[in-house]
Amino acid sequence: MGEHEPGDEFGPEEGVPAPGPVPADWNPRGPRVRRDPVAAYDELRERCPVARGAGGAWTLFSHAEVVAAALDHETFANAVSRHLQVPNGLDGPAHTAFRAVVERFFTPQRTAALGPVVRRTAEELVADLPVPGAVDAVALGARFAVRAQLAWLGWDPGLEEELLRWTAEHRAATRSRRPERTAAAARRFDALVRSQTAPRRAAGAHAPDDVTTELLRERVEGRPLTEEEVVSVLRNWTGGDLGSMALCAGVVLAHLADHPQRQERLRRGVPDRELGQVLDEILRLDDPFVQNRRVTTRPVTAGGRELAAGERVFLNWTAANRDPRVFGEPGDFDPVGHAPYNLVWGIGKHVCPGRPLATLELRELTRAVLAATTALVPDPRQPREREVPPGGGYAAVPLLLR
Ligand code: HEM
Repeated sequence: MGEHEPGDEFGPEEGVPAPGPVPADWNPRGPRVRRDPVAAYDELRERCPVARGAGGAWTLFSHAEVVAAALDHETFANAVSRHLQVPNGLDGPAHTAFRAVVERFFTPQRTAALGPVVRRTAEELVADLPVPGAVDAVALGARFAVRAQLAWLGWDPGLEEELLRWTAEHRAATRSRRPERTAAAARRFDALVRSQTAPRRAAGAHAPDDVTTELLRERVEGRPLTEEEVVSVLRNWTGGDLGSMALCAGVVLAHLADHPQRQERLRRGVPDRELGQVLDEILRLDDPFVQNRRVTTRPVTAGGRELAAGERVFLNWTAANRDPRVFGEPGDFDPVGHAPYNLVWGIGKHVCPGRPLATLELRELTRAVLAATTALVPDPRQPREREVPPGGGYAAVPLLLR
């Protein structure tokens, strides 16, 4: 298929008619979205805030519709996959029970105790960078996320390269949209997780005192977690989130390279809370965690459109986070004023429980990079590369360190 004319760019791909009686409003894999996903989502939010895609799924683009659906978890359910996904694929009391288990690992005390470990991890990684020299911020973020996660979970640091390879393969498999490739990546990952859980189970009371052992000893609804549930939780904490951390690092460091004054202000030093708000605001402007799925449990009207029961729905956080009805002009940068409406970490029952850990990691990586340099600038020799939609952020952010 060639390029469409501007007015027609969101039309369904030839040979891919939207299934059912409702015609498609846009093509999530069309050239317009591939060329500039953030601008395309902006345009859709204004033109068609609840839109049916060429594949048949609906996407909610406006802040109001995304928030309403995320809060109405009875109508917009999370049971979207036939695979066990703990806790994100659960609804109702099962979700509440597992969510309580997960939240015990992210209390303020635990996050504070982890601070020095994460800081050291960031400083050691950055100490190995060439200054002056060049770096890809996404690759840096990926390696940092893997190291920090291995330290947090108590896993063998020797797994770093394998986990990095796995993260890359997981991303490529998701992009390929070939279910057998995704399934193979999932099997490899499960084997990796089991290589960590099996010795701890075998060691019983002598297992190392770490987060993984603690998870194995957790109980839900009065019984121990099954191996499948433990693996699912660990897959969620690693497989999904390592990729997100890398993308977040790319967006944050790209933004600071593009805004030298903001960069300089942070380099002079700001308290944790202020830095957290600045990072959230940077991520809001170009949210790399693009969307999450839901399925309707009953007929519902959203944005004036009739959705039947059983429809696949995406909440597009990236578009909602740039809604001018809530955040004003597209370039407005207001970390404090925008904080209450920021959707980078989601909203409602499924709001990100890992936020304190993710924020700690992003803070420490940013501080370490700024402390080791006098300037962070875009590398003029190499272009930035956008991640392929529906992924978000960048695949590569080449920067010069001075
Ligand atoms: C790095 C940046 C991250 C971003 C931008 C992010 C964002 C989000 C968002 C938007 C949701 C809501 C999903 C929904 O409503 O369906 C979510 C859920 C979740 N996140 Fe994160 N997250 C990040 C990192 C992490 C980390 C590091 C962890 C844990 C180690 C984590 C664990 C989870 C879990 C378990 C859920 C599902 C919660 C539930 O269904 O109750 N996230 N995240």
